Amino acid sequence: MRKKVIAGNWKMNKTLNESQELVSKIINGLGNDRKSDVIVCTPFTSLNEVHSLIKNTPVKLGAQNMHYEESGAYTGEISADMLKSVGCEYVILGHSERRVIFEESDEIINTKLKTAISKELKVIFCVGELLEQREKGITMEVISDQVSKGLEGISSKNMGEIIIAYEPVWAIGTGKTATPQQAQEVHLFIRKLISEKYSSSIADNLIVQYGGSVKPDNAGELLSQKDIDGALVGGACLNADSFLGIISSA
Ligand code: PGA
Repeated sequence: MRKKVIAGNWKMNKTLNESQELVSKIINGLGNDRKSDVIVCTPFTSLNEVHSLIKNTPVKLGAQNMHYEESGAYTGEISADMLKSVGCEYVILGHSERRVIFEESDEIINTKLKTAISKELKVIFCVGELLEQREKGITMEVISDQVSKGLEGISSKNMGEIIIAYEPVWAIGTGKTATPQQAQEVHLFIRKLISEKYSSSIADNLIVQYGGSVKPDNAGELLSQKDIDGALVGGACLNADSFLGIISSA
């Protein structure tokens, strides 16, 4: 039985004060809820302070991106060691906003994955098709390509450190959610890909999150699908009540 994992991707939102306020409300509202794992992926500037607030709570910390090199002349970039030094346990890689706006290729994402794993950071690895790809009927090809290129050279042993998040790009921030059936179909497909590439036991243990306009009122039905093991939440994680609402429907 896989545990549900609910992660909030704060994106470029929340100053330091706002972050402290939001995470405090989340911690207070969570109470003894241990049904699902909860991760907050805050902006870089809030990681350190949020880390001290979540100590001794069930909430875990993640970053939204990192560079693939260990250190050096990469103005404006953040390394895996830097993330570890402020208490990060997770990092989101391959988010569609990184792929589309910042033109990150599958190869770059794969290099980042390898660096993160070598530094013992767990990865939330995002994949998802564009609207025109879904309309052309090539969703599964796109997902298969992103999964195989993104996981190139990642060993079976390291698959335990990876969560895959299926986020159809047309559903991100648009209010359009994939139907539970559409999402389930892709999640099952991803699990099959992992089973073929690695093994059925690795596939059975893999957490596959859904992301794209998850809200308290649609989370229950999405999360009740057999292969949907959690959610990667954008807009609705910026408000404690709606994030807690999603967590409680898991
Ligand atoms: P959304 O974002 O919930 O605002 O659609 C999800 C994400 O981009 O991870």
